[in-house]
Amino acid sequence: MRAGCARRLHIRDTVLETINHVLIRHANPLGTLHGGVMLQWMITTATLAAMRLARAPAVLAGMDHIFFLSPVHVGENAILTAWVDYVGKSSMDVTVYVEAENPIRGERRLTTISHMVLVAVNDELRPVPVGACIEPKGDVEVTLYQAALERRRQRVGRLEKRREAILDTSPPRPLDPRYSAVSMRFAYPEDAIFHNAVYAGKLMYYLDELAGIIGLRYSGGPVVTAAVDATDFYSPIRVGEAIEMHAALTYVGRTTMEITLKAIARREESGEARHTTTSYFTLVALDENGRPRRVPPFEPQERWQWELFEQAKARRARRLELLEALKKSRPLKPL
Ligand SMILES: CC(C)(COP(=O)(O)OP(=O)(O)OC[C@H]1O[C@@H](n2cnc3c(N)ncnc32)[C@H](O)[C@@H]1OP(=O)(O)O)[C@@H](O)C(=O)NCCC(=O)NCCS
Repeated sequence: MRAGCARRLHIRDTVLETINHVLIRHANPLGTLHGGVMLQWMITTATLAAMRLARAPAVLAGMDHIFFLSPVHVGENAILTAWVDYVGKSSMDVTVYVEAENPIRGERRLTTISHMVLVAVNDELRPVPVGACIEPKGDVEVTLYQAALERRRQRVGRLEKRREAILDTSPPRPLDPRYSAVSMRFAYPEDAIFHNAVYAGKLMYYLDELAGIIGLRYSGGPVVTAAVDATDFYSPIRVGEAIEMHAALTYVGRTTMEITLKAIARREESGEARHTTTSYFTLVALDENGRPRRVPPFEPQERWQWELFEQAKARRARRLELLEALKKSRPLKPL
């Protein structure tokens, strides 16, 4: 256990639950919860658990792959349970475990599980020490703690690139310019969580919406978000800055499409631009019964299109490997 740790907590002391009833305004025309709304609820629950532990504001620094295993229908509850598995110096590893509940029958099913890293920050949004440690108690907590340490080890490569990534403000290249979009909006106080910092839940909501527009345009019918690849947030967006969001179709499968999303913070009065995040969304096209539907095939013609396809295929292979591992695993809760 680290020295200089003022408070020591068991994982179960950090558990926080939020319950959201799914209404028509949260859902798509097929009556299932929008991925963007779910992402927002997940990030909210993780942020609350982190802030409660740190006794300080916390921002989302990154999240691992997220897979939406089953839809949540209008009239059901989304029960989100978050806990802190591990505390670094200023960062906290938070798991969010999401179940869909039929409130009449009381049945629950796992919808998704995600691992996020939140960082405790000061008024200038710079990292501050959390001042607490996790002391796992019992076999389940030890397993959760060790799994968080392993995830930390696996993220090292991603983290090394984060400083230079801020400077990369070039838009993502689409396979075909017809299947790309740019959206600009001001960051308003309503987008902020505290200290004028735009809330990652809001940003992911906007990005999911933009991805949906491109998916709808390409596939010609309803789409839902099936997965979001591991995503890092390199720099904050402040209220008063412009949020520039790009969406680009970068892969087409049989029933799925990969849309690359990129957000850039722009301080228009000075010309300053910072890369905030790049995120790969996998959307699946659905028919009127909610079953996966074939999308028009895309045949790369140019060399650069083949290259985009090959890069996307590598991401797809990794995604499928992680999804398989998730399906085989028996996710634990510290209760
Ligand atoms: C998170 C942030 C404050 C970290 O700043 P930084 O300059 O990298 O700070 P540091 O190098 O001191 O890292 C701080 C901690 O964050 C961790 N960290 C930083 N980026 C991370 C990422 N993408 N994933 C996981 N951990 C990360 C570091 O490992 C370190 O952990 P430790 O203190 O426990 O050792 C900065 O990247 C940031 O402001 N990002 C945007 C956050 C945000 O606004 N999110 C919402 C966007 S809309």
